[in-house]
Amino acid sequence: MTIADSAVLVTGANRGIGQALVQEALNRGAKRVYAGTRQPLAHPDGRVTPLRLDVTNQAQIQAAAGQVEALDVLINNAGIWLYDDLSDRAALERHLAVNLFGTWGVTQAFLPSLTRSRGAIVNNVSLMALAALPLTPAYSISKAAAFSLTQSLRALLAGRGVRVHAVLTGPVDTDMTRGFDIPKASPESVARAILDGVENGEEEIFPDPMSAAMAEDWRSSAAKAFERQNAALAAASVTA
Ligand SMILES: NC(=O)c1ccc[n+]([C@@H]2O[C@H](COP(=O)([O-])OP(=O)(O)OC[C@H]3O[C@@H](n4cnc5c(N)ncnc54)[C@H](OP(=O)(O)O)[C@@H]3O)[C@@H](O)[C@H]2O)c1
Repeated sequence: MTIADSAVLVTGANRGIGQALVQEALNRGAKRVYAGTRQPLAHPDGRVTPLRLDVTNQAQIQAAAGQVEALDVLINNAGIWLYDDLSDRAALERHLAVNLFGTWGVTQAFLPSLTRSRGAIVNNVSLMALAALPLTPAYSISKAAAFSLTQSLRALLAGRGVRVHAVLTGPVDTDMTRGFDIPKASPESVARAILDGVENGEEEIFPDPMSAAMAEDWRSSAAKAFERQNAALAAASVTA
């Protein structure tokens, strides 16, 4: 998979990592970048097509799918991150609506295009999918669910030639982490590492120094081996 000459869609494209991903895809020679945003967007590069896309709005998702002629790479990047203490069901539902069901809904809508192109799905998950941060438990739950979604999609779509990547992102310097005084990677460096990972076919992408320190352990972990074992079991039962 190369980004050059491909058509890429990024959700949450107006700021943070999404904005950097749009720019990095352009830098690599993408022929078309669809920028999904909740508010109208103007972009100076003629290869960018803005799409009105609130990932919790099914009508907007369907309308966006109708506007996209062909797609090679879908990047589910839109996300929310709010403090909670698990006492409020609504907080959990808000996170799941965007971070899980938004990713699921956009993926389903663009699956026919991605199947035609034998393309790729890139889910910007979080390291918190692997271990919850109890300051933001609802966020952590939603990202763990999005990671599980990514693993099942990978197994289910392998036969159609669609690759599915999980980005296990650590702290990045965006609006989302503004209140956190910790070392953070720049959105630009993270966008480069994400697209490197896609081009190199990495199933899990660890795009910043904190996550990269865990990459090797993850790849040789019991959890990764178990994922492969389960995927093989599912594939065998489909062909049996
Ligand atoms: N920053 C980090 O440290 C970090 C770490 C791990 C994972 N991540 C993940 O990386 C992704 C991008 O995060 P970021 O740091 O770039 O955050 P950000 O700067 O807060 O940007 C979030 C983006 O998501 C969009 N968004 C939120 N709700 C949406 C919805 N319902 N429909 C469509 N778009 C929506 C926002 O649009 P509006 O401008 O309209 O609100 C914005 O474009 C998220 O999935 C986040 O969980 C970030």
